[in-house]
Amino acid sequence: MAKVTKAVIPAAGLGTRVLPATKAMPKEMLPIVDKPAIQYIVEEAVRAGIEDILIITGRGKGIIEDHFDRAPELETALAKPGKEKALEECLGIAGLANIFFVRQKQTLGLGHAVRMAKPFTGSEPFVVLYGDDVIMGEDPCAAQLCRAYEAYGRAAVGIKEVSLDAIRRYSSMKVAPIPGGAANHYLIDDMVEKPAPGQEFSLFSILGRCLLTPEIYDILDHTAPGAGGEIQLTDAMAELARTRGVTGVDFTGKRYDMGNKLGVMQAQVETALTHPEIGPAFRAYLKELAGQL
Ligand code: UTP
Repeated sequence: MAKVTKAVIPAAGLGTRVLPATKAMPKEMLPIVDKPAIQYIVEEAVRAGIEDILIITGRGKGIIEDHFDRAPELETALAKPGKEKALEECLGIAGLANIFFVRQKQTLGLGHAVRMAKPFTGSEPFVVLYGDDVIMGEDPCAAQLCRAYEAYGRAAVGIKEVSLDAIRRYSSMKVAPIPGGAANHYLIDDMVEKPAPGQEFSLFSILGRCLLTPEIYDILDHTAPGAGGEIQLTDAMAELARTRGVTGVDFTGKRYDMGNKLGVMQAQVETALTHPEIGPAFRAYLKELAGQL
């Protein structure tokens, strides 16, 4: 099985659930302590062995490109004693991977955004990392999907069980154990986006990561707008699941939804607690604050 070396990060959405922060700033650039969300995502892909990354952007998302570019004025300002660490960090961001950009001219949905990656991925499998889902963990979620692809030779999705309330806003997977397979691997032969009550297959939902094979493009070509009038990637993956089967990987790692305000705060607080620079001071502050609640 060929090694997966390409990833796609759709980051063109309007982020309406995080307004007004996202009026002029992409939600993918919301910081988690001191790094924008999308940097954690690019770092996850790189740790999984991905070499080439396509970020799908849109109007008003130019600062994502700037973030992964060299910054000569800043680098000159940092080239002095005492600033070595900051300089190294800035240079490191620009050298993380080969990063490419394409603009989705209309936000017609995640499926439409992924369709734009076809000239980039060609006939190769690729990982999709949703630009507003940060997953922290020792074993990168993208790597867990790559291993599942190598084991079964078909598309794979990162799944976790969510509450009945949450499943209405996400997707629901029809799962079955894989005989002889790992305990956290499932065969998915159908799925539904934003199921109405009674429509759900299980409480397993795709959370922010999938590994797709090129057949997805032929399916996306005829995928009609679904929930919310958008071209839903889940609808295309459902067809892939029904025709070829998809592996569900109940991944290890903690996922933060940077597309909603509570998720943003959970990511901030939990990351700050273990941050090498501010962790101990923030923990003391939080304990004191909690005592007053
Ligand atoms: P979401 O549906 O969560 O993003 O898509 P959104 O449209 O920004 O959400 P609202 O406005 O708060 O409801 C998941 C991922 O897909 C990208 C988003 O940027 C996000 O990273 N996306 C979504 C696109 O790239 N293009 C689209 O047309 C829609």
